[in-house]
Amino acid sequence: MALTAPHATCWLDGTFQPLANARISPLDRGFLFGDAVYEVLPCYAGRPFLFHPHMARLERSLREIGLAAPLDRAQWAQVLRGLVAHNQAQDATLYLQVSRGAEWGRNHAPPATPKATVFAYATPLPPLDPKTLNEGVAVATFPDERWGRCDIKSTALLANVLAKDRAQSAGAFEAVLVADGWLREGSSTTVMLVHQGRLVAPPDSPQILPGTTRDFLFALAKTAGIAVERRDIRATELHEADEVLLGFATRGALPVTQVDGRAVGSDLAAGRPGPVWQRLHGAFQARIKHWADVPFDAPVDAPL
Ligand SMILES: Cc1ncc(COP(=O)(O)O)c(C=O)c1O
Repeated sequence: MALTAPHATCWLDGTFQPLANARISPLDRGFLFGDAVYEVLPCYAGRPFLFHPHMARLERSLREIGLAAPLDRAQWAQVLRGLVAHNQAQDATLYLQVSRGAEWGRNHAPPATPKATVFAYATPLPPLDPKTLNEGVAVATFPDERWGRCDIKSTALLANVLAKDRAQSAGAFEAVLVADGWLREGSSTTVMLVHQGRLVAPPDSPQILPGTTRDFLFALAKTAGIAVERRDIRATELHEADEVLLGFATRGALPVTQVDGRAVGSDLAAGRPGPVWQRLHGAFQARIKHWADVPFDAPVDAPL
């Protein structure tokens, strides 16, 4: 397949090369078993945003699957800097993947000394759609059919893919996953709600991915004097909440204005993006706007 990518240079196993020509073995365990972990981080004004939290999560995912980190943070920073430079990227999505590599044969048991396949590429990040910000997005709930270690950012995403497909077929932007009546997360987003002025999200557990955007939004909320809470959330609370938010690295916070066809919120404000989202979104955008002034290697995990 001929690929013409807007950001045409990728990084694969130690070299920058045209994405269209990049090749990995079909025996790669990432391809055969989904034996791989990944990260997605945004880049604003040519600078990766929340680099250290994303690196910390990647290191954790690697630890949890027993794969040695192929690069340290300084080396990852070099890779990202190279991707940005080669592609003249400004606002972009940066993708990193580490698989347990290729071996002869097909063995579930990992090799004793795997040689990781390491891949990174960039795609342009389009500006936020004003219609989405004005009107919010719709979500639909579905049973969580994923495995028991959703805290590992694994490329084995078939259940997430199918859930997103079902949501989009139902006219919704995102699938919100529910298990035994409890809210988990979206297929590729953290789900948060606002109740009596508090920003609430489920606590970390093996059932959800620890969201970098969620953590950043919680930090922004605290700075803005908005109370925050981590607790288990019943799916029915989505219908009682004043606001529902989605958080994910490439878009920050999006307002959810419909859950399963019902307007979020009450009275005149129902079905409209709410005031807590507006404040958090404003604070988030203000951070991004100043990003061009932040040196690449600044301690970006202390952003406030
Ligand atoms: C299942 C899942 N939950 C939550 C998130 C949000 O995480 P982050 O804010 O780090 O993008 C993602 C992002 O891809 C995800 O795939």
